[in-house]
Amino acid sequence: PSILVVNGPNLNLLGTREPAVYGTATLDDVVRLADDTAQAAGCATTAVQSNHEGELIDAIHAARTTSDGIVINAGAFTHTSIAIRDALAGVGLPVVEVHISNVHRREDFRHHSYISGVADAVIVGAGIDGYRLAVEHLARRLTGV
Ligand code: DQA
Repeated sequence: PSILVVNGPNLNLLGTREPAVYGTATLDDVVRLADDTAQAAGCATTAVQSNHEGELIDAIHAARTTSDGIVINAGAFTHTSIAIRDALAGVGLPVVEVHISNVHRREDFRHHSYISGVADAVIVGAGIDGYRLAVEHLARRLTGV
């Protein structure tokens, strides 16, 4: 099985962006962690990061034929994008939503997620380990072990 790992806006800056909130690991570290986790569980990953809403939607659509599940950290689009939610609902693959920080301990505008209503699981506040947990969970679902 193949898992698409989607990272939204500003996550390309991981490692240097607000390290007190998001830690010092880079996006490359996240992608490697997700792929190592998937491989150990008998799956593969492909990773996409974009700062553009439409590109994220296109990548989600493409997953319909290339992937079996989606791990997504939509960044700030989490709190604004009905279009990304609709794309996830439209492809109908299992979805795990990840946030590095505990969004519920932060500003009110981060408390609502348009993604959560179409996600099978949500992992917040575990740092980049959230990606490992998300991939492990999806891999287990997809391989049935
Ligand atoms: C984030 C939380 C969002 O509120 C924020 O806009 C991000 C990152 C997280 O991973 O904690 O860009 O999704």
